[in-house]
Amino acid sequence: MNDKPTTHAERDDTILGRTIVEMGLATEQELKDCRELQSHLAQGDEPRPLSDILLDNRYVTDRQLQRAMQVVRSQQGVQQIPGFQILEKLGAGAMATVVKAKQLSLDRVVAIKVLPKKYMGDEEFVRRFYDEGRAAAKLNHANIVQAYDVGQAGEFHYFVMEYVEGHTVHDCLEERKPYDEQQALEIILQIAEALEHVHDQGLMHRDVKPKNIMITRQGIAKLADMGLARQVTDMAAAQAEAGKAYGTPYYISPEQIRGKLDIDFRADIYGLGATFYHMVTGRVPFDGPNPSAVMHKHLKDNLTPPDHINAKLSAGVGEVIEVMMAKLPEERYASTSDLLEDLRSLARGEAPLQARSKVEMASLAGLESGQAVAEEPATGALPPLAEQPWFWVALGSILLNLLLIVLWIVL
Ligand SMILES: Nc1ncnc2c1ncn2[C@@H]1O[C@H](COP(=O)(O)OP(=O)(O)OP(=O)(O)O)[C@@H](O)[C@H]1O
Ligand SMILES: [Mg+2]
Repeated sequence: MNDKPTTHAERDDTILGRTIVEMGLATEQELKDCRELQSHLAQGDEPRPLSDILLDNRYVTDRQLQRAMQVVRSQQGVQQIPGFQILEKLGAGAMATVVKAKQLSLDRVVAIKVLPKKYMGDEEFVRRFYDEGRAAAKLNHANIVQAYDVGQAGEFHYFVMEYVEGHTVHDCLEERKPYDEQQALEIILQIAEALEHVHDQGLMHRDVKPKNIMITRQGIAKLADMGLARQVTDMAAAQAEAGKAYGTPYYISPEQIRGKLDIDFRADIYGLGATFYHMVTGRVPFDGPNPSAVMHKHLKDNLTPPDHINAKLSAGVGEVIEVMMAKLPEERYASTSDLLEDLRSLARGEAPLQARSKVEMASLAGLESGQAVAEEPATGALPPLAEQPWFWVALGSILLNLLLIVLWIVL
């Protein structure tokens, strides 16, 4: 050990080393080897930066190093948010880093999402980030991760929210088999309640997926990341995003893939349906070798009914998921309250009447127009009545009975 005070360069190397290991780019042992090499090469001179050693010895590629440095830079920014003491890193997603921190004024633990520097110059993005933060902070619900504040520290924008001690549904799906039907239902029901609250305020989430559902130690489900939420009526923001597909391909709705301007709460119902599907079958609804293949399937492929994958699944759960994931928004639930009604029926062991009437209405519409229900039929929706064998059996037996009655009266 040396007694010299730690220099900036040494601190940077320590953070970089930790990040490289956390990102799975090198093992602890490999990092140790690099550090030894670094001190061996120094021999009294300024040591070479760890990044050079990692690169020269091919522990990381140039691109991997750039990504790691980006994470390091965002963490260094996080060290300096006035009023907060950073405790530890909680995770990093595609867009940001999340840390656990203590808000000194209120002496409470919070989670802070810090945006990378690259968003600084994007005025439109920053404006939306603040608008959305304000909209999210208006929401108050036991099943929503509470948004507290948005702000800027130095070159970073950040979002302060309730700290949730627990795990995400994604973490659980990674490490075990499908959820048991009742457990999945309990979680989906709570998130549907959260969404009803969001939708009642004229907002939507836009990114409902297992990574954005957190489960507390007490088993309460909370919808995370209202950062992408936006006023449905904010057409200007929608236009700015037009053509871009938002969200993660495994759970994204067909209308979001198409970059439609007028998407509404039904896109969230699709995302929740896809999450429900994954939870009870252990599989994502549509898979493929790359994001565009997955998105193509959301648009065109029929959904494999969930009970074909998990035979233990009750018929009702399958029906509800299929209505939630209908390709056309108008074939999904007409409101989040209707969805909740069905989920509550399922929880009581009763039939999902809203889903059934949706399917029947679609069938009748098909009968009336004398054609298939829609250009892209609701996945899993039953075919029109006339195409079902039982329809003709029932009709035949009614006619036969009528004939017998007439004959009995006449003769
Ligand atoms: N409020 C919170 N309390 C505790 N941990 C959190 C909180 N919000 C996020 N996390 C943790 O931080 C991780 C990263 O979250 P983030 O929202 O940045 O990305 P993500 O949702 O996992 O993925 P993506 O970038 O695809 O949306 C989460 O997986 C979770 O483990
Ligand atoms: Mg998230």
